[in-house]
Amino acid sequence: MQFEVFTLLPEVFPSYLETSILKRARERGLIHVNVHNIRNYTHDRHHTTDDTPYGGGGGMVMKPEPVFEAIETVLGIASPPSTPELESPLPIILLTPQGRVFNQSIAKELSQHSKIVLLCGRYEGIDERIRQNLVTDEISIGDYVLTGGEIPALILIDAISRLLPDVLGDPTGAEDDSHAMGLLEYPHYTRPPEFRGSKVPDVLLSGDHAKIDKWRREQALERTFKKRPDMLEKADLSEADKKFIKSLKSNIE
Ligand code: ADE
Repeated sequence: MQFEVFTLLPEVFPSYLETSILKRARERGLIHVNVHNIRNYTHDRHHTTDDTPYGGGGGMVMKPEPVFEAIETVLGIASPPSTPELESPLPIILLTPQGRVFNQSIAKELSQHSKIVLLCGRYEGIDERIRQNLVTDEISIGDYVLTGGEIPALILIDAISRLLPDVLGDPTGAEDDSHAMGLLEYPHYTRPPEFRGSKVPDVLLSGDHAKIDKWRREQALERTFKKRPDMLEKADLSEADKKFIKSLKSNIE
């Protein structure tokens, strides 16, 4: 999978991309991350990428010309193209607090593409024509405002990459994740069996995999019930799950 990132701060990216799982994924050719400096697509002496807003008011606005030129040059396009094998348009995603709020299902949806474009906003905003005529999607990483879209872009790259085949060492690694199954994940333990008086639950040492699966499912349900009850409304629940949740409810009544 290929990520084409457009930013005014390219120096933000290497340290994270050269670490751990993303580093390995890049070395193995599973992901390609190309970071492009929008400033390289300016033509004036000062390499201007922003200007004051029409109509007045504070702050600076990202100019449209360098952004259009950067994306069109790198992609070799004049308007958003399609990726023929998927017959869906190439996503050109603006990272902005105004976008749809990122979650695991959006990560999964984006992981189906062979290429995506990430445009990092900076300054107080971007010229609206970039939104209207270039961008195909807008994503926010949460209801708060950062100084720019660089950290959000890294968050998307990370969350999407780990869903791609062979990126995680364990092929089932992403399946049990919190959110992947619509529930928070069950608790994990490793050695030692007792630490400062606190023991690993017996069931995990029992070797009985049916029992372990049942315990993990119930723990996931209980955690979600306590910490994120909103998620239970959308989760795919069996009759046994529903019964278990009912028992949790009656315990607190
Ligand atoms: N840029 C600034 N704040 C942001 C947010 N919450 N999500 C995505 N991009 C942003």
